[in-house]
Amino acid sequence: MKKLTFGTPEACTPTKYCKDLRLEETDVSYPVHRIEFRLTSGGCLLKLPFDPGEHIYGLGLQLRAFDLSGKKFTLRPNADPITPTGDSHAPVPFFVSTAGYGVYVDTARHAEFYFGANTALRKRTPTGEVKEVATSTSELYSSEVTEEACITVRIPAAKGVDIYIFEGNTVTDVVAKYNMFSGGGCEVPAWALSAVYRCYGKYDQNEVTQMARYLKENGFAVGTVGLEPGWQSHAYPCTFCWNPEKFPEPQKLIRELLDMGFRISLWEHMFTHPASPIYEKLFPYSADHEVWKGLVPDFSIPEARAVFADHHKNLVESGIDAFKLDECDGSDVTGSWSYPNFTEFPGGMDGEQYHSMAGVLYMQAILEALDGRPTLSQVRNAGALSAPYPFVLYSDLYDSRDFIRGCAVSGFSGILWAPEVRDTVSRTKEEFIRRLQNNVFSVQCMINSWYCKDAPWIELGCSEDVKYWLNIRESLVPMLKEAFERYSRTGVPPVRALVSDYSDDENTYAIADQYLFCEKLLVAPIEVGKKGRKLYLPRGRWVDFFTGEPAPNGWFEVETDSIPVYRLTD
Ligand code: GAL
Repeated sequence: MKKLTFGTPEACTPTKYCKDLRLEETDVSYPVHRIEFRLTSGGCLLKLPFDPGEHIYGLGLQLRAFDLSGKKFTLRPNADPITPTGDSHAPVPFFVSTAGYGVYVDTARHAEFYFGANTALRKRTPTGEVKEVATSTSELYSSEVTEEACITVRIPAAKGVDIYIFEGNTVTDVVAKYNMFSGGGCEVPAWALSAVYRCYGKYDQNEVTQMARYLKENGFAVGTVGLEPGWQSHAYPCTFCWNPEKFPEPQKLIRELLDMGFRISLWEHMFTHPASPIYEKLFPYSADHEVWKGLVPDFSIPEARAVFADHHKNLVESGIDAFKLDECDGSDVTGSWSYPNFTEFPGGMDGEQYHSMAGVLYMQAILEALDGRPTLSQVRNAGALSAPYPFVLYSDLYDSRDFIRGCAVSGFSGILWAPEVRDTVSRTKEEFIRRLQNNVFSVQCMINSWYCKDAPWIELGCSEDVKYWLNIRESLVPMLKEAFERYSRTGVPPVRALVSDYSDDENTYAIADQYLFCEKLLVAPIEVGKKGRKLYLPRGRWVDFFTGEPAPNGWFEVETDSIPVYRLTD
């Protein structure tokens, strides 16, 4: 890894907040002399070499984009990332190339990345060239990557930036180095790899117990029960205290669930209600804007984290093992509910920067409360240098193809993604099971029934199928546990796109709907509404995961009610 400094970097950048940065510099073969830097009226600009033949991946949880070359992205945290332009629950200013290198740009700004797109269109003397009239938008707007193209990164407001260059033989090697730089991948406990069932948000104490008993007595292999907003006395914003009417005896509830063998996860977000016992203590360490009339704590300040963690320690000591940290991404789409970019935080960041750091700093506060107790929790925003955090990302967007793509892209950027199953859009058994199959082969298998009064499979009439798939999940736990140990030791993510391991195989460059799972499995989920799919098996000897039958290399068609999964045997 090589660190390069251009101009005067900003004071508040992700490396500043990284707890275990591993700065081991080595020489790189990357042509650093070809990097150009200049200040502009809007911030600063970096130009990096680009070969039109290379393929670029990363920039965080890009649910709608895969191969980034030839395109432009603006990294903005957003709960509703509906376009392939850089908005994301978890944008990460790190990209990796099939040419064997990756670049981490240390900024919390809404940086713009141009991967060869339009970068060469400089003003020049007219040549008198006459163009044919285009009659389709694809012709009209086709982006051309020419020989002169480069990668350009524009960082608003900044007068300088540090960048870090990583090298390796494959995309996986490069990503692993980036992950080790941030402290290595997270290790997680085996119990958290069993399925999670998140209960209806309006349940009271008895209803939660009844649901847990139903799951247990009917043989659904669920390891964690999650409580959604209704457990708190106020939830938008949050008090982080039990609702005394609906949950009069939380300790009894916790005991009952633990005795049945479940772990418990509590939903919350950081915006703090005036009735919360920590409101006054957090007040001096919070932003000058509110969200839903709640304080926005500045978790970059150790005192703010300590106040928050001290309160949460009581929950942890009472038997809570996991948290779901919601709403920390913010949105410009659903009501623009979050704090504005011009918000001022007492720790020195503005709203634009805090949006990029919120998830990471929030996870730090919760980990302080857990005080070494292992977890695999959930979070809706992560960012740069997130690999050490045992939290999975999830989304309210519910497109089946995007959810599959999330599995493939997450491994480029040190983040974890769970394509959770909710009630279904089309309310069919077929949809529920297709989504569950994808979910079972992901880092966290999560059924999120926050708006379903009953377990969704009851109405759909597919209890037995759900039991079957949850048992399959259970059988994968030891393998996943090992994959997480490897993640922590080496930085190799448990779930990876095919191009990550097979970076020299051009067939893999555009495959966004298949992924490698743990060390030896290849998963090719079938999208909702489809009976089959075309898939690709790269070199090596593969067998069908379920039947053990040998499978061919290359492209072929599969039609099945199950999910195509293959195991590498050599
Ligand atoms: C959403 C979240 C859902 C659910 C809901 C409860 O923001 O994505 O999973 O927790 O809040 O209000």
